[in-house]
Amino acid sequence: MAIMETEVVILSKEPGPVADVVINRPEHLNALNSDVLQSLLMIIEKLSKNPEILVMKLTGSGEKAFVAGADIAVLNQLGKRAASDYLELGQRVMRAIETARFPVIAAVNGYALGGGLELALACDIIVASQSARFGAPEVNLGIIPGFGGTQRLIQRCGIGAAKRLVLTGEMVAAEEALRMGLADKVAAEGQLHGEVEKLCNMIVAKGPLAVREAKQLLVRSQENQLLSGLQLEVESFLKVFDTHDREEGMSAFLQKRTPKFLGK
Ligand code: COA
Repeated sequence: MAIMETEVVILSKEPGPVADVVINRPEHLNALNSDVLQSLLMIIEKLSKNPEILVMKLTGSGEKAFVAGADIAVLNQLGKRAASDYLELGQRVMRAIETARFPVIAAVNGYALGGGLELALACDIIVASQSARFGAPEVNLGIIPGFGGTQRLIQRCGIGAAKRLVLTGEMVAAEEALRMGLADKVAAEGQLHGEVEKLCNMIVAKGPLAVREAKQLLVRSQENQLLSGLQLEVESFLKVFDTHDREEGMSAFLQKRTPKFLGK
């Protein structure tokens, strides 16, 4: 039963404490354009006002992707000022999820790349399907992560794994993501949503005040370093956004060709 449906994000909720949020742009592999980001923000704000909600599940629609990143076609059209606004919006969405009153579980049903990886990293628990693929492919496009991915990767997986993913753009499969501490669990074939529901039910059965307090404590304990790191990330993103290589990288992706980077 959908209780709130924007063009690109669906919030459905059976009566009770679990909210189910689905990003719904499967023809673009659920890429995050401004409409998706605004809708997510609106939905999190709505859920935060509802004391009945104790846990949220977040997934992507279709067989192929959780979220394949920021929308490259949109990003490619933006000037530096608009890119800065888009970045700010993306960072707000990630922080809204991270600091939500209730735990958020990512059900990663396919590609979680770039902004999709960053979205999963903002969630409290990451469960992957067998077909899930994780990566930070921004360097392929001549840019870097900008929705907090560099910082949350360091916090979740350590500096070594963060460097490996961010510097190479390499994609890793679900089992490897599990070994790296990036995914918390890999579901057996066809069991992703069942596994996530089990976790949701475990959380729902616990003392809600304790769960809420524990989440806030865990999030706040990481905050000092995170907030200064996020600011550094924005500055670095905008520096590389304003380059020939960024234009070339994104144009090459959209034209389905290999980019010719010039280092300027
Ligand atoms: N932004 C906008 N559109 C995207 C997208 C993104 N991040 N990722 C995929 N799409 C679009 C493709 O352009 C394609 O559109 P088209 O059918 O109009 O050509 C459609 O989604 C399907 O993707 P396609 O590339 O044809 O699928 P594939 O199976 O060959 O490859 C991926 C899948 C995920 C490996 C590939 O789409 C990809 O590398 N995407 C970009 C990932 C990325 O760099 N993310 C970080 C962005 S900052």
